[in-house]
Amino acid sequence: MEPDAAARAAIVATHDPALASNPHLAAWRERMAAIGHAAPLARPLLRSGRLTRAAGLVLEAVGIRMPVGAGALIELPPGNPLKMAEAEVVGFQGDRLFLMPTTEVAGLLPGARVFPLEVAPVDDPHAGQKRLPVGFGMLGRVVDSAGRPLDGLGPLNSQADASLHGTPINPLLRDPIHAPLDVGVRAINALLTVGRGQRMGLFAGSGVGKSVLLGMMARYTSADVIVVGLIGERGREVKEFIEQILGQEGIKRSVVVAAPADVTPLMRLQGAAYATTLAEFFRDQGCNVLLIMDSLTRYAMAQREIALAIGEPPATKGYPPSVFAKLPALVERTGNGPKGGGSITAFYTVLTEGDDQQDPIADSARAILDGHVVLSRTLAESGHYPAIDIEASISRAMAALVTDQQFEEVRKFKQTLSRYQRNRDLIAVGAYAPGRDAQIDRAIAMYPRLEMFLQQKMLERADYATSIAQLSALFSNAQGQHA
Ligand SMILES: Nc1ncnc2c1ncn2[C@@H]1O[C@H](COP(=O)(O)OP(=O)(O)OP(=O)(O)O)[C@@H](O)[C@H]1O
Ligand SMILES: [Mg+2]
Repeated sequence: MEPDAAARAAIVATHDPALASNPHLAAWRERMAAIGHAAPLARPLLRSGRLTRAAGLVLEAVGIRMPVGAGALIELPPGNPLKMAEAEVVGFQGDRLFLMPTTEVAGLLPGARVFPLEVAPVDDPHAGQKRLPVGFGMLGRVVDSAGRPLDGLGPLNSQADASLHGTPINPLLRDPIHAPLDVGVRAINALLTVGRGQRMGLFAGSGVGKSVLLGMMARYTSADVIVVGLIGERGREVKEFIEQILGQEGIKRSVVVAAPADVTPLMRLQGAAYATTLAEFFRDQGCNVLLIMDSLTRYAMAQREIALAIGEPPATKGYPPSVFAKLPALVERTGNGPKGGGSITAFYTVLTEGDDQQDPIADSARAILDGHVVLSRTLAESGHYPAIDIEASISRAMAALVTDQQFEEVRKFKQTLSRYQRNRDLIAVGAYAPGRDAQIDRAIAMYPRLEMFLQQKMLERADYATSIAQLSALFSNAQGQHA
């Protein structure tokens, strides 16, 4: 007899000994036991709704209640190899749910049934939220925005799964930015020092060396783990970035999440959220993480596509207001954790089309990030790489990170550089006669060395200590003393 049946028998027996031998009672008990066995085998009632509209990117369903952000499966006609299309709830109006597909939806029929993807318990704070694999076993791997391996290296060796939405950190508990992070690039280490937990923007037009610069940082940084999110860029670039730019050395301690331009806008958003989730996992394990997101602009564009499709009105240059809410929400997840924990230092690329710094996304990014590195087309065209425009770039956390001496040297560096740049045309056409202004003379004399300091080959590493020492060396001779 099973223990609970024994207990029941004992209760009955103590109340009325005559019942213990009642044949009817025995028959009922048997029945109940059979039902008890069958109950766990029964399939729960499947909730489903119906597809009523599919126009452009948006699907509409009725007959089911699901929270925004929840995943859904939509049945495809028999014979379709996929069986089910996946979608996500992106909004609703009255009883109508707006869904956006995350997979191929060719073949959907009117009236197709819509099922909730996961039936999570109601009291779970993450109910209905998507969870994706995370773990140290994912280092060296390339995955898509749904956590499926793209590199053909077999199944992922993940430790756990984590919510795509992250858990907000109390801003008062965050560790302030106090230690520099060696990014392996001389101009940044010395002149635009980046701290652990700082969020930087990399502002540039197309083809001026963003990917190469990010790759240099990924290869040479002193961070423990690198998470790369390739969002909305060309598919070809993904392979190129991994094989040529990141290289064997870089990939070993990296996880790459790739959501190229040909995946649905929802998957592009999810790719960025997933990369951030992975970075959060490593940070919470105490690692110093470098998160590289290429690009924040494509992330904003994906959100614009979705928002416009579900009827949000465009506001600033075609971008609906939700875009400007999504950007800080993504960026705020990175940074330092509570004291004693790990950090996420992040670099987000921002496209400045036609090198327009006034683009609304660039503007918004500049406001929410802790500094920006601007790449200049003029420099790139003249073969000056990395094409960092030192005068236009700033690291807002730098003052708290460097010595007074370095701060002073940076000031002198920028002053000398800008003095030369301002008079460059005059100097070039020979309209400036040497000896007229001692400071300009010094700037002219120093310029070749400044230029050399700023340039760095793709396969050259400049560690933090050496970068600082080289900066000091520029100003340690008598000539630099008075600059
Ligand atoms: N440090 C460097 N040294 C030498 N050449 C460089 C360096 N950085 C970039 N380049 C040159 O610039 C080219 C473009 O660089 P990259 O692909 O990084 O640009 P991008 O800004 O990422 O372009 P896109 O907008 O197309 O993604 C490279 O193919 C390379 O020839
Ligand atoms: Mg690129």
